[in-house]
Amino acid sequence: MNQIELKTLLADMSLEEKVYQLLQVTSGFFNQETVLTGPMRDGGFSEESIAGAGSIIGLFGAKKYKEVQHTYMQQQPHGIPFLMMLDVINGFKTVFPIPLGQGAAFDPELAGRCAQMAAKEAAVSGVHVTFSPMLDLVRDARWGRVMESTGEDCKLNADYAEAIVKGYQGEDVSEPYRIAACVKHFAGYGAPTAGREYNTVELSENTLRNFYMPAYEAAVKAGAKVVMASFNTLNGIPSTGNRHLMREVLRKELGFEGVLISDWAGIEEMINHGYASDRKHAAELAMNAGVDVDMMTGIYSKELPELIKEEMLPMELLDEAVLRVLELKNQMGLFENPYKDADENLEKEIVLCKENRKLAREAAEKSFVLLENDEILPLKQLEKIAFIGPFVDEKEIYGAWSMLANAEDTVSIKEAVLASLDDYQITFAKGTPILGAEDYQLVPDHIAEQIAKEQENLCLEELLAGAVEAAKTADKVVLTLGEHRCMSGEAASRAMLDLPAIQQKLLNAIYEVNPNIVVVLFSGRPLDLREVKAHAKAILQVWMPGTEGGNAIWNVLKGQAEPVGRLPISFPYCVGQVPVHYDEFTTGRPYKDGAKERQYLSNYRDIPNKPLYPFGYGMGYTTFSYSNLTLDTDIMREGETIQASVVLKNTGANHGVETVQLYIRDCVGSVVRPGKQLKDYQKVALNPGEERKVIFTITEDQLSFYRADGTYGCEPGEFQVFIGKDSNVEEFQSFVLK
Ligand code: BGC
Repeated sequence: MNQIELKTLLADMSLEEKVYQLLQVTSGFFNQETVLTGPMRDGGFSEESIAGAGSIIGLFGAKKYKEVQHTYMQQQPHGIPFLMMLDVINGFKTVFPIPLGQGAAFDPELAGRCAQMAAKEAAVSGVHVTFSPMLDLVRDARWGRVMESTGEDCKLNADYAEAIVKGYQGEDVSEPYRIAACVKHFAGYGAPTAGREYNTVELSENTLRNFYMPAYEAAVKAGAKVVMASFNTLNGIPSTGNRHLMREVLRKELGFEGVLISDWAGIEEMINHGYASDRKHAAELAMNAGVDVDMMTGIYSKELPELIKEEMLPMELLDEAVLRVLELKNQMGLFENPYKDADENLEKEIVLCKENRKLAREAAEKSFVLLENDEILPLKQLEKIAFIGPFVDEKEIYGAWSMLANAEDTVSIKEAVLASLDDYQITFAKGTPILGAEDYQLVPDHIAEQIAKEQENLCLEELLAGAVEAAKTADKVVLTLGEHRCMSGEAASRAMLDLPAIQQKLLNAIYEVNPNIVVVLFSGRPLDLREVKAHAKAILQVWMPGTEGGNAIWNVLKGQAEPVGRLPISFPYCVGQVPVHYDEFTTGRPYKDGAKERQYLSNYRDIPNKPLYPFGYGMGYTTFSYSNLTLDTDIMREGETIQASVVLKNTGANHGVETVQLYIRDCVGSVVRPGKQLKDYQKVALNPGEERKVIFTITEDQLSFYRADGTYGCEPGEFQVFIGKDSNVEEFQSFVLK
């Protein structure tokens, strides 16, 4: 349809029909006869509104989708199809590593390919919009949703934002196998106070603009079709009712023209926040703020008609919102073909196909971060290796959002090892379940109940004894430890960041009989690894690796693939240090870890300032040296660029890929600037003994920021340039911007 036809359609729609376009309900309503149960009735849904809802969340499967769409459209006065939305976060049925793991690859292009593949699987299954990417900057490992972010750095996040949005959408969402991206959660949801889920957010304008905004901005620039309003308040105003944030910042400043959707019941929650007095008031506030779609409350569909009739809201406001929804449907080509890519045959062919699995394996391998390695990895053939721990044969290694993943489709470590045993001498022992009774509170109640049931007849002593026996006779122990997949994700905040108690016991018991321990660590967040570090000779952080996790881990352990990941988020020394991130301000009383004088300087009495493992950190199977840090000039004038270079040499015995990182410090600013900030990075592959000059171009844009007067740009003065292997790099060269 062209714009005139769309507007003609809009003009012909009844008030109710329009309002229903703004309602999003779950597929639960369509799975059975539409019988409204208690809570749903309380939600304010009417059977008419559900039947006319403009979008559905959570319905997938080509056959089912087509059936529901067909019946639905027949009931619509204008035959308008519904939009099908779903949380396709790190893959559809082929599961990639969690976004935090993808961030560790420092490889946005790869994440873009994963997004494209996820879009294809989702599209043939009837999905039109994914609630991804989550672009909330994360600095607090206590928050369970750090697993959904690509980390603590605004440049890295912005690069991923662009790549992922383009991966889902391509050039044109109406093309085959493309779905629309929904950027979330606008804005600042990644900064809940004390890391507690849904808690208040306190962000200064400076922090919001200079650190939290770049990723959202990059996604909007990349053409994201949908944005989701966050649950939290900013400056005391819930985003869902924040007119300034949505109309001035998102729409005018960032130029967003697509659909703005509330988060789940976000409109209603303004009442709990104490911002809306009742549901009608909430509807008025959200509509005024420019929220187009009401996810999962009946507030818009019930209250908007009255608000319009009573002239408390102008019809133009409603029309504007409805038009945006119609435009999205039109851009996806749904008016011409309401079934778009949904296709049962293609679904069978594409979902979990060989090619997708291959990409999942590549993405997993590249996401692993080697945190320690005291000459114990890679494993060598003929060695006797005991694979121990609760993740050895665990197949649910795919993160909390992978609701469509099937354990049967996932490869465990044990399966991978048995499939290509070569000359390794391997034994397996579980040692312990992931969680003991004392850890059950760390997962949702229904999961805890399930686990408790599974453990009813388990003899924990026997399990542990078996593992200790296996460890005694092994040359090396590969000890798999970590968080249960449901310990991170939404509503999964933790105040402590250590291993479940039962696993800590296993670690201690194994260490007593065999200290040659390689820990393979699963988690959706940075953990406090002091104990693990003290007991292990190597630590391989594997996040939640997804469908091909087992194969990827085995490949990396035996050196068939190299661990090339780098931390996209600091691993704190301990929980008392969080939120901790590398790009902090120096303070008026800077303190450098280890310096003798520390009184009245900014430090802790009992722990270091630096995290245990810094942002950007990670080892490989070789070593690199950096030398000759050089700038081609020490003066930069308006419109000019500077070339910064370093000589990188592979000084080890193996081929290796290094992530060379460029950081810049703006020494003086109209607002204080971070001690250093990542501005660029390059992955460089070198053979043993090989060296290469690695060159970065420094541009004015990299020096720009939101200044004290609110404008964006750079300021003259001194800048320090660091090139190194992680954010702890200290050597720099300076230049002056004139
Ligand atoms: C989450 C969103 C998600 C939505 C739909 C909400 O609870 O905050 O990120 O997209 O549910 O599943």
